[in-house]
Order: sequence, then C-alpha cells, then structure tokens
Amino acid sequence: MKFSSLTDRVKGSAADAWDLHYEAKQARARGEDVIILSVGDPDFATPERVIERASQAMRDGDTHYTSILGHSELREAIAERHRQSSGQQIDINQVITTSGAQNALFACSLCLLEAGDEAIVLQPMYVTYEATIQAPGATLVPVVLHAEHGFRLDRETLQNAISERTRAIFYASPSNPTGVALNREELELIAEVARRHDLWVVADEVYADFLYAEPFQHIAALPGMAERVITIGSLSKSYAMSGWRVGWAIAPPPMIANMEKLALCMLYGLPGFIQQAGAEALKHCAQDLQSMREIYRQRRDFLFAAFSAIPGLEPLLPEAGMFMMVKVTGSGYTAADFSRALYQASGVSVLDATAFGASAAGYVRVSYTVSEADLREACKRIQSFMENLQ
Ligand SMILES: Cc1ncc(COP(=O)(O)O)c(C=O)c1O
Repeated sequence: MKFSSLTDRVKGSAADAWDLHYEAKQARARGEDVIILSVGDPDFATPERVIERASQAMRDGDTHYTSILGHSELREAIAERHRQSSGQQIDINQVITTSGAQNALFACSLCLLEAGDEAIVLQPMYVTYEATIQAPGATLVPVVLHAEHGFRLDRETLQNAISERTRAIFYASPSNPTGVALNREELELIAEVARRHDLWVVADEVYADFLYAEPFQHIAALPGMAERVITIGSLSKSYAMSGWRVGWAIAPPPMIANMEKLALCMLYGLPGFIQQAGAEALKHCAQDLQSMREIYRQRRDFLFAAFSAIPGLEPLLPEAGMFMMVKVTGSGYTAADFSRALYQASGVSVLDATAFGASAAGYVRVSYTVSEADLREACKRIQSFMENLQ
C-alpha cells in the first residue's frame, strides 16, 4: 500500500542515536545494573497538589470535551507567567494550549511553512526539529554553531543562512543539548535579522525556568518583535509533568486563530482535568520549581567538577537545563564508539550528541535527571572506564 510523501519527510535522520538508549532501558527492565543518562525526562515526581487537583477535577466531572484554545484559567495562568517574566503585556487571546511544546512546534510549522520555504534552525538542535520543519515540505537550513565558540551565535553565520525563501527562524533557548541560553546580544541579532527580512521567530523556551544564574530574556519582549514571535513553552520540564502533555504557544491573535483552526481538526482540546492540573502547577507550585532548579544546579556543579577531573574528558558548563555536553575525543573514540564502549564496560548510557547536528561531533550529551547517588556511581564508572583505556 502507498503512503504519502509526508511519511518520508517525518522520518528524521538521527533515530539511530537512540538505539543504545532503548537497549539500556530494556536492560533496566530486565533488572540489570544500568544507569541511564541518555534521556531528558525529569526524575522528580509531579507535585502532589497537581495530582490532587487532577483527581478532584475528574471526580467533579471535567472529563468531557473542552474548548479548543484551552480553559481560560490555564490560559490566564500561562499569560500571567509570561507577563511576569517577560514584561510583555499579553492577554489570553494570545495563548493557545497544546499537547506539549512538541505539538505547538509542529502546529507552528504547519501554519507558517510550505513547500519551497526555508526555515532557519540553530544547530545543534533538538532532534524533532528536522521532521517538524520538513512535514509541510519546507527545507531546514541549519545555522551551525561551533563547539570552539561555545556553541554561540555570530552575525555572519546567521546572515549567510538567509535567502529570499526564508520564512522563519526556529531555535530553542536554553538549548537542548548544549545548555546555552542566548544572551541579549544574540537575541537582538536574531530580532534585527527577523525584522529586516520580515521573518517569523519560533522561540522554544521549554528550559527557560532552569536558567541557573541570569534572569531569562524573552525575544518577544524586544522592540518590534511581539508581532512576529511565537513563544513556546510547556510544563514538561518545569513541573516534572512530561507525561501530562501540557504545552502552549503565545503569539499574535491572527496566528492563534490559525492554530485554533488547525487544533480543531488535529487535537480538539486537552483533557479538562489535565488543564486544571496545569493551572494548579503554574499558580501554586513555584516552590517546587525552585527546589528542582536548585537540585539541577547542584547536580550540574557536581558533574562538571567530576568530569573536569577525569583526563580525556572536557565538559562544557551548561547555563541552563538538565544536560551537559562532554567532549570525549580525548578517549581516542568517536562519540558513538565511546557511548557504546562505555555502556558495554560499565552499564552507563550516554547519548552521542551528533544526533543533534554535525557540529556536536565528538561530544556526548549526559542528562542529570537521575538521583545524586546514581550520578556519583555513574561518575565512578566513567572514571574507571577512562583509566582502563590508558
Ligand atoms: C528543546 C525542546 N523542545 C521541545 C521539547 C518537547 O517538550 P514537550 O514535552 O513539552 O513536548 C523538548 C523535550 O525534550 C525539548 O528538549
């Protein structure tokens, strides 16, 4: 039987990188002694009052169809969070709820791009971007950020990627996998280019709450940007709610109207009890978020110190998020071979970062979404693996 060409466009080219991860997961399910540092799912439990609110909402009967845009309580909580952190004065007509940030990214791609269009993506990039941008038939044009420059953006590289077919710039800041948060200068550069070439900017901010030091800067709040920026966020990371699938897009009202039409035929609204739980998280769980951020920061500092002390490894200090990039070429292996050899020798699984783009070659991405005890044990095993190589 024949399938549409879309099924080829959404295949993605980086699927192999996850083979080792799935192997490790299966081994763990069989009870084997493995430590999985290859996935970015928070290890914390969803806050108890969120679970309680969802249960109560179900018992109260919020188990039917809901509105396509989302409950106004949740949309208002999203708008308020955004107003507080960005200073951008938005109202709930600029908010649509989606099934996670991934669903919002996909909807943006379908509403903004078509065959013949180009979308620029800062690379290394989160792996689903490739399929997301290609789904409507558009071409992904990577702006390659180099490890030697700390994976930071420069004017020339961005400008060189623009053509008359460019319609949008997509990026995640803070970035998965690099942990780099774009600074004011970099955001102004993107904004300047977007204004000059009349481009949309899709700003994926799912790790914004986990910026450790600086206050997070929103590109939507820069002059002349509100009309062309779509800010994407989600509860997955911030409140350890990845399985609840609550995300959103904040955009100018005409974009929200188009996303609503798409959502009508694609999603038909999020479950009401989940939306209530989402509102509960945003309105009442600031303390949980703060404790998680502090724990991630401590884990980051521990890992950075541990890896820095192992000859042959070069960690990059992430400014945000839950991942650390570590250069492993000092081991004599490529990142793919390093990951495989490490797993076979010690049962620790890390991810070959080449999956996020060629400029990450030689790096592995290490997630610190496991307990401190597991992190300590993983570091011990990695150290003895490196010692045995010498
Ligand atoms: C950069 C980035 N964007 C989007 C997502 C998807 O998040 P969600 O669970 O909200 O769909 C992830 C998940 O890992 C991510 O790392």
